[in-house]
Amino acid sequence: MDGEAAMSKQNTLIPRMGNKQYAWKHIKGYITTRASFSKLYCEPFLGSGYVFLRVKEAYPDQYCLLGDLNDQIGNFYLQLFYNEHFQEALQHLPYSEGLFKYLLGYDGDDDEVRAMQTYYKSKTAIMGGSSMREGNSNNIGAAKMLLGRDGGRHSGQSAKMFIRNSNKYAPKPKMEKMDSLFYRSQFLHKDFNATIDLATKRFGDDVFYYCDPPYFETEAVYGMPPFDHAGLRQALEGKNCMVSYDDCEYIRNLYEGWDIVDIEVSKQSMKGGKKIRKEILIMSHDNSINEI
Ligand SMILES: C[S@@+](CC[C@H](N)C(=O)[O-])C[C@H]1O[C@@H](n2cnc3c(N)ncnc32)[C@H](O)[C@@H]1O
Repeated sequence: MDGEAAMSKQNTLIPRMGNKQYAWKHIKGYITTRASFSKLYCEPFLGSGYVFLRVKEAYPDQYCLLGDLNDQIGNFYLQLFYNEHFQEALQHLPYSEGLFKYLLGYDGDDDEVRAMQTYYKSKTAIMGGSSMREGNSNNIGAAKMLLGRDGGRHSGQSAKMFIRNSNKYAPKPKMEKMDSLFYRSQFLHKDFNATIDLATKRFGDDVFYYCDPPYFETEAVYGMPPFDHAGLRQALEGKNCMVSYDDCEYIRNLYEGWDIVDIEVSKQSMKGGKKIRKEILIMSHDNSINEI
């Protein structure tokens, strides 16, 4: 799939392993129904954004509060949601090996460049780097110009020229579509406790939480400290929510008394072929059903 097709399909905001694409057919009904009955949809572990995109597609007017603690993901979303210059640059990103190499080698602390690096890295990790085509010969200059980090040597006019010329290489996300994602959506680069607290403070009980935390004993995949599974369980006490997990005894015990549904998720394995994995969906009791 080339870049343009990938962006216009907009399956995820950051292509990442661990996204919920393969489990979607199981969770779709619960999430869309419960989310639509609540004023706020809250997803404190946003990851690739797969589920949020589906919710927003189904309910464009839904208020959404999203969060993720990971340094790279959090920084990327802060730029995507709140930095117009970054949105513009992303839209005109050239498909270029030189730019790719420049960004991969970047170890500075400029948040905008880091966000672009995250985008490139995640995209190529999934696509195996095979979709990169050679672009403009002056890619390092191009990267700096696009990202506005060249000490101001390029005028706005030359940046526009570059953008015009690089169009044929650029995977263009549909910004009209992106705008509709940002409408009534907010992202927090924070721990799940902070996201859940804010949702409760602003919307009280009128919130549906979908949580897809790091699975039990797989926290290292996200390069993060050990995850506080019991803390999440506590934070969700009394809330209208659904949680996705791998099927293991520790988690089943932690959520004893909740509705637990077994699902089988079929995933494409790295070596080709399909791999079946058992997962569980944990749901709070649906109080709205009792009230009817
Ligand atoms: C399983 S992934 C979520 C995948 C997502 N549902 C999707 O479809 O892409 C878990 C996410 O939780 C984030 N995370 C890990 N610990 C966290 C914490 N304490 N608070 C908030 N987010 C955290 C990770 O950065 C990762 O993006």
